[in-house]
Amino acid sequence: MFEGVVLKLQHFMTIPPGQHKLPPLPYPYDALEPIISSTLLQIHHDRHHKAYVDGLNKAELETAKSRQSKDFSLIKHWERELAFHGSGHILHSIYWTIMAPRGMGGQPGRRTQNLIANYFGSFPAFKEQFSAAAVDVEASGWAILVWNSSWRRLEILTAEKHQDLTQWGSIPILVLDVWEHAYYLDYQNRRKDYVDAWWQLVNWYEVERRLLLAMGGLTPLTLNNF
Ligand SMILES: [Fe+2]
Repeated sequence: MFEGVVLKLQHFMTIPPGQHKLPPLPYPYDALEPIISSTLLQIHHDRHHKAYVDGLNKAELETAKSRQSKDFSLIKHWERELAFHGSGHILHSIYWTIMAPRGMGGQPGRRTQNLIANYFGSFPAFKEQFSAAAVDVEASGWAILVWNSSWRRLEILTAEKHQDLTQWGSIPILVLDVWEHAYYLDYQNRRKDYVDAWWQLVNWYEVERRLLLAMGGLTPLTLNNF
């Protein structure tokens, strides 16, 4: 039952490689004035966000070509592009939706208030930390209130730039540790030998379970929970 609902939802929402579209703003360009001007909002959405969407589409199509041709000589570059443009697209899409014309955004909902108070102590304490974190991000980046689906609670994180090789919103399913501590004692500098051999260890039952749970927004940290 649960699996069926998740699969239906997943089918409905699947975006084929290279098919991302710039979501329209949920309000007119001048709706956020005088906090954010019409001109700024138009340039930010129509040019900057669009560039992320175009870049993400290109990176996905190029990686698809690599899989077909089995030529992965540029994979490091395209993985970086997937992270940079993918995160840019996701974070900007969220940014537009969590703003509303001044005075129209209401008050924090009961669940939001409770979870914020439980973890940060109070709403003012949360707001103070969020603002301080945003002000102190080096160069360009984001302040982000996240729901950590492993620990089942909120946290404030910042992203310098925004990519650092992730696409925000993604949930890990299958992970391979390639830090030197994970293989150096056995394989020294032969990381490829470790990677090739590692495939024999994968627990595909757990990968399947994690995939289904992730589609429901969950990221368990052990085999037993959920
Ligand atoms: Fe931006």
